Amino acid sequence: MKTALIILGAGKGTRMNSELPKVLHPIAGEPMLFHAMASGASLEPERTVVVAGHGAEAVRTAVLTHDGEVDVVEQTEQLGTAHAVAQAKAALGSFDGMALVLYGDTPFIRPETLEQMQDALGQHDVVVLGFKAADPGRYGRLIMDGAALDKIVEYKDASDEERAVTLCNSGVVACRSALLFKLVEAVDNNNASGEYYLTDIVGIARAQGLSATAVLCDEAETLGVNSRADLAAADAAFQRRARLSLMEDGVTLMAPDTVYLARDTVIGRDTVIEPNVVFGPGVTVESGATIRAFSHLEGCHVSRGSVVGPYARLRPGTELAEFTRVGNFVEIKNAQIAEGAKINHLSYIGDATIGPRANIGAGTITCNYDGVMKHHTHIGADAFIGSNTMLVAPVHIGNGAMTGSGSVITSDVEPDALALARAPQVEKPGMARKLFEMLKAKKARTQRGS
Ligand code: UD1
Ligand code: CA
Repeated sequence: MKTALIILGAGKGTRMNSELPKVLHPIAGEPMLFHAMASGASLEPERTVVVAGHGAEAVRTAVLTHDGEVDVVEQTEQLGTAHAVAQAKAALGSFDGMALVLYGDTPFIRPETLEQMQDALGQHDVVVLGFKAADPGRYGRLIMDGAALDKIVEYKDASDEERAVTLCNSGVVACRSALLFKLVEAVDNNNASGEYYLTDIVGIARAQGLSATAVLCDEAETLGVNSRADLAAADAAFQRRARLSLMEDGVTLMAPDTVYLARDTVIGRDTVIEPNVVFGPGVTVESGATIRAFSHLEGCHVSRGSVVGPYARLRPGTELAEFTRVGNFVEIKNAQIAEGAKINHLSYIGDATIGPRANIGAGTITCNYDGVMKHHTHIGADAFIGSNTMLVAPVHIGNGAMTGSGSVITSDVEPDALALARAPQVEKPGMARKLFEMLKAKKARTQRGS
């Protein structure tokens, strides 16, 4: 069966106390909404519709930049979860298959759980994801009759007997798309909140002789974010799981609690991560690499056997080939560093290609920005760039060429040539001593005068 995701995220998120729409608050470097989208994406959905409301424009921009295939529809008034689902109907048009409703503020539902729901939909008309709550609080309660789900009662509307039930509603629902919209249309708002409850579709379906059931998951999966404290707890839970899973995959984390990972961080076997390393989105590190302490990586690829840091910064577009060395206080952006090249100390390399085995001396800078445009620097294979070389881009250094330290290189250098671009040294014998004497005499005169 084909799948369509409907992800609800129109709510205000009042308790976040924020200008930013709740679903755009980041967990592990990415909006929490993207986590929900990613868990749904494991079912390879045909269509994904995000229902936005508060901050809809910001949500639309973020979602479309992340994935242009997704539809973002607006729910201008937040009249309830059933009303929110109804907003997706036009966007799904004639889609025929399973519609899966997820919440943008519930980021951790496991793909395996969603697969179980998909399977259950083979035998039932409505499938709800439930969990045994340690503290059921204000969650909606699942009222079961054996394996059948009779109805869902919202806390506000529940009797004492119903409130005693600990089986709770996660909010995730699966149903065939046409049926879902038909059931949602039948929902009214005669309840304690005056809202159109999506949860009412269960009772409505059962009254029509249709079947409903619940699939159960671990409470940790249904963790929802309503406040900044929840956000921090969600991030911590994510980090804990991600670190453990990396270690199971054969990655050494010397001080796991100090390593910050992104949702999509990929690290190969036998790579060693030293303490206090931060991974932003879009990083892949191959096997047998070492990322030394206090390094910051985002949007980059580190190949097998490379050593990065300590104190290195790899920005988006950095590609390190095998066995490269990037040392302390080196920043690299949008640059391809070929096999065995070394940039060991205090450098900025931006918008550049660096050839195999090239050696970049301490303090080298690619001057890539003229204040308006960015320009490219190419450094050939086996080139030797002297310390403190300024490479004023666009500029091309040939294979095997050398630049003298302190040079400001403004024109291309031929292969195997030595380029020197610095003031020649002059030497004045005895001049230092004369200068010292002159200055000391001057100091003595001013002290006597005062
Ligand atoms: C909902 C469920 C409850 C469940 C709980 C789990 C209903 C009626 N209740 O309650 O059974 O235990 O989630 O967390 O569904 N939203 C919209 N538009 C709206 C209203 C909500 O997009 O008009 C979105 C919110 O942004 C949020 C989600 O739907 O992502 C859930 O809404 P929320 O108001 O938090 O529902 P709860 O009262 O927590
Ligand atoms: Ca909620």
